[in-house]
Amino acid sequence: MAKRLTRREALSTAAKIATGVIVAGVVAGVGGYYAGSTAAAPVTVTKTETRTVTTGASVVTSTVREVSTTTVTSPVTVTRTVTAPAAPAKPLKIGVIGKSVHPYWSVVDKGSAKAGDELREAGLDVTVSFWVPYKEDVPAQLKTMDSYIAEGYAGIAVAPSDPDAIIPIIRKALDAGIPVITIDTDAPNSDRLAYLGTDNYMAGRAAGEAMLEALKVMGLAKPGGKIAIGTGSLTARNSLERMQGFRDVVEPAGYVCLEPVCDYEDAAKALELAAATLAANPDLVGAFGVYAYNGPAWARAVEEAGKVGKIAIVEFDATKENIEPIKAGVIYATVAQRQYFMGYYGAKLLALMNMWGWESALKFFVPRYPANKIYDTGVDVVKKANLRQYYEEVTARGEPVDWTPD
Ligand code: BGC
Repeated sequence: MAKRLTRREALSTAAKIATGVIVAGVVAGVGGYYAGSTAAAPVTVTKTETRTVTTGASVVTSTVREVSTTTVTSPVTVTRTVTAPAAPAKPLKIGVIGKSVHPYWSVVDKGSAKAGDELREAGLDVTVSFWVPYKEDVPAQLKTMDSYIAEGYAGIAVAPSDPDAIIPIIRKALDAGIPVITIDTDAPNSDRLAYLGTDNYMAGRAAGEAMLEALKVMGLAKPGGKIAIGTGSLTARNSLERMQGFRDVVEPAGYVCLEPVCDYEDAAKALELAAATLAANPDLVGAFGVYAYNGPAWARAVEEAGKVGKIAIVEFDATKENIEPIKAGVIYATVAQRQYFMGYYGAKLLALMNMWGWESALKFFVPRYPANKIYDTGVDVVKKANLRQYYEEVTARGEPVDWTPD
């Protein structure tokens, strides 16, 4: 019985199908060769493809898909092999460019490296490299992209710290025949082929809802209460969209957001700014950490000021440094991204674009492409109460975790 593949299964196996690992053709209906001197009777030939694919680590399943049904009147050999596009002749280099050195980005790196391993196992000659600047550094991102273009990379996935500054270099790559997608944070006014990542406006709204809940649960709900925001960028869209989404929820509920403090993805600076903001605003009721290290910075500053329980903290991401303060009851909730899949699917999509052609690969990966060019990787809102459940889900999905729920 043919098993229907879930979208995730299909995506994780796409590389194997692409390289033609198993693309045996099977013809059902009639077999053999119709010989004879008189015209053969019309015969209906149903061509089907058998695809054997590996899902997850070891499960093997087969799907049989009807390709076409034709009526032929001449003698016909009905055995046919359906072949996938040949693997490209030259070795493929795929580059993934992140935004700063942080365990958040190490997870993206792991995802893209895993994709590289699977692609090589499937017979593709591919190298997947990962690069991040130390902290937010727009010129360094552009320079790195430029060097990838000069080296003839086969695809680039980039998280642009500045969605406008990246526009010309994306165009340059595309003109050189190199597909470019964005991950983690988008540049929708560029010609990038797709964005794989969080819907940051909606995720910001989720953070706002979590903040309202935290204020209520902690007995801090107060009309006119002040909430501080710490972020790592005033240009990256993910930062701007998260802050907008957050404000759109907490402000109508009567809270006042302070002007965001920006550390340009420098975690040490984030801590200094958090401490200074707390000192300057003794009446603060809440603090929102926009980037991965911002929540931990608020947590430490709140602890050092002896204000645990008096300031509700909501953050983003789920590395160990994000989860420990949740376990300790210092941070109320986090909006956990699924960045592993940004790296994993990002690298696979770029490889497949080289195998199948850009459009075919994009249509396979991105729902409703080309009308839609966004693949939403999703988020989980994690609190102390659902930490164990989240841990179980995240490990079942195969995402690496560097913490335990207890
Ligand atoms: C963001 C990244 C950022 C990282 C830094 C994440 O929340 O999505 O853009 O670079 O935090 O810590």
